[in-house]
Amino acid sequence: MNRISVSYAPGKRSAYAEAMFPAIAPTYDFLTRWLTFTWADGWRRAAVHEARLRTGAQALDLATGTGEMALLLSLAAGPLGRVVGVDVSEAMLAEAREKIRGRSAPDSTGTRGISPAPGMAPIEFTRLDGESLPFEDGTFDAATLSLALRYFDVPTVLAEMRRVLKPGGRAVIVEFGEPESTVMRAGYHAYAHWMMPALGAAISRRRDVWRLLRFLPNSIHHHHTPEELVALFRQAGFEEAACRRLTLGIGLVFSGTAP
Ligand SMILES: C[S@@+](CC[C@H](N)C(=O)[O-])C[C@H]1O[C@@H](n2cnc3c(N)ncnc32)[C@H](O)[C@@H]1O
Repeated sequence: MNRISVSYAPGKRSAYAEAMFPAIAPTYDFLTRWLTFTWADGWRRAAVHEARLRTGAQALDLATGTGEMALLLSLAAGPLGRVVGVDVSEAMLAEAREKIRGRSAPDSTGTRGISPAPGMAPIEFTRLDGESLPFEDGTFDAATLSLALRYFDVPTVLAEMRRVLKPGGRAVIVEFGEPESTVMRAGYHAYAHWMMPALGAAISRRRDVWRLLRFLPNSIHHHHTPEELVALFRQAGFEEAACRRLTLGIGLVFSGTAP
């Protein structure tokens, strides 16, 4: 059965992320893009499609990292919308802020954040723990979480996503899966366990990047199948809980609608 890795050492997740991500932040986009053969970009785009955002929508991106998903949400929500990206790592948020500052029109700084470009929603990047959000119930039309489920307690983050969503709002999670075919899975394991960490360390010229990338497949204490994760969406009260498999099952997009 295909399993996806999502969790480790309860209570230590955000501390681990805060300690590890400064090492990887400057090369994160480059590594993620090229070590996933640009597939991750497509998975995030598919996730935004699943979020079903209308112009003027309010969207929340949990564990936003360098803000790649937040940028796509901002494009979908348009200039009347609003996007909030939250993360525990100040180093990753600094990359995200720098990225939108580089793209933004000079007069676009407003109270709702910075617009990355005309026609896009302002984005606000804030340091917050995604498992304990300060937003009121029913604030957002969509809440997303991309490539970061392993840092969270799944029922806790799903409950928090559901709480901050308006009725009809969409929760969307992007995660790595495993290829469905046994042969492809063996090749994928060799790549994920050995080649990807080695390439990542070589590209970024940092040994700690090796440790971080080795951690992805090695630090797994719990496993959920895609079916179990869909069931957890249902248990959290979401309707229309579903999983889309992309890139032969290596990319998974989970979604559900808040009642
Ligand atoms: C692999 S990156 C994913 C970044 C981004 N979502 C993407 O699609 O590229 C994981 C991110 O999760 C963040 N993170 C880990 N635990 C968190 C928590 N409890 N609350 C918010 N962010 C967290 C890390 O700081 C890191 O930026």
